[in-house]
Amino acid sequence: MNAVVTRNLTKKFGTFTAVDDLNLAIRTGSIYGFLGPNGSGKSTTIKMLCGILEPTAGYGEILGMDLRRNREAVKKQLGYMSQKFSLYDDLTVWENLTFYAGLYSLPEAVKQKRVYEMLDMAGLQERKNELTANLSGGWKQRLALGCSILHKPSILFLDEPTGGVDPKSRRLFWDIIYQLAVEGTTIMVTTHFMDEAEHCDRIGFIFEGNLIADDSPQRLKQAIPGLLLEIPAEDPMNFMRQLTDANLACMDMYPYGLSVHVLVAEADIGLYRNYPYTVITPSLEDVFVYYVQSRRRGMVE
Ligand SMILES: Nc1ncnc2c1ncn2[C@@H]1O[C@H](COP(=O)(O)OP(=O)(O)OP(=O)(O)O)[C@@H](O)[C@H]1O
Ligand SMILES: [Mg+2]
Repeated sequence: MNAVVTRNLTKKFGTFTAVDDLNLAIRTGSIYGFLGPNGSGKSTTIKMLCGILEPTAGYGEILGMDLRRNREAVKKQLGYMSQKFSLYDDLTVWENLTFYAGLYSLPEAVKQKRVYEMLDMAGLQERKNELTANLSGGWKQRLALGCSILHKPSILFLDEPTGGVDPKSRRLFWDIIYQLAVEGTTIMVTTHFMDEAEHCDRIGFIFEGNLIADDSPQRLKQAIPGLLLEIPAEDPMNFMRQLTDANLACMDMYPYGLSVHVLVAEADIGLYRNYPYTVITPSLEDVFVYYVQSRRRGMVE
């Protein structure tokens, strides 16, 4: 069963296509990581799925309900934490939660119970009377999450929830995410952190509005052909020029920190015997580079 399905979902702003014929299927209860460079269409997609932006074309459904026809019913079932989530700085933690609980029209008895549950989930009981303005980024982020799931949504959209918070807060935040998924919530999350993406059940890479890869992290890595070599280099750009001049067969090469990554066919590895390479397992960044390059080549050919 899929909690999200889209077919050729498209959003244009004037003549510019921000999301292009997107086909997604997100299994109920799974964590789906949505990755891509700045401006690739992640937020636009999420806004369409949350009913904030009208698609230009295509079809989308949430929990079996057509996005266009069942807008209000869909909204009741989803939680959304936007990239620029808004909390009221001049309200206390408790007041913010109570305010949002009011927006979801929760019955009075349920409201109080849920506010306390959210304080508990976010570890904010001790701080419930603190002014939100005085909270650090990590606490604010957990409070914002609490505000977006007060109504127990079946599906949760998180748009770069961990941007600008420290690693410890990121880990705490992800503990909560896993727990929600274990309890059956479907989660679609955008992130720029590859370590976070590794822990998603499935990942979609979006590039210039197109979904260029969509699978589990493990299978995405396995799909890369040949062998990936890491060769240390103090000046990666200069070293790449040397490799190019040597004219050794390779499928791809690119700088990677203080090294160069070279993708070679297994049969060609002997050509590199004079270089201090290590054969490595591709990281998700390697995977992303591979799919972007493949797509670019496809366009040129
Ligand atoms: N309301 C709008 N009007 C015109 N163009 C827009 C609008 N909203 C987004 N865009 C453009 O659509 C493209 C996709 O934007 P979007 O915000 O979805 O990217 P993103 O993948 O979320 O990027 P980021 O990682 O920076 O958050 C960008 O080129 C952006 O400038
Ligand atoms: Mg965005």
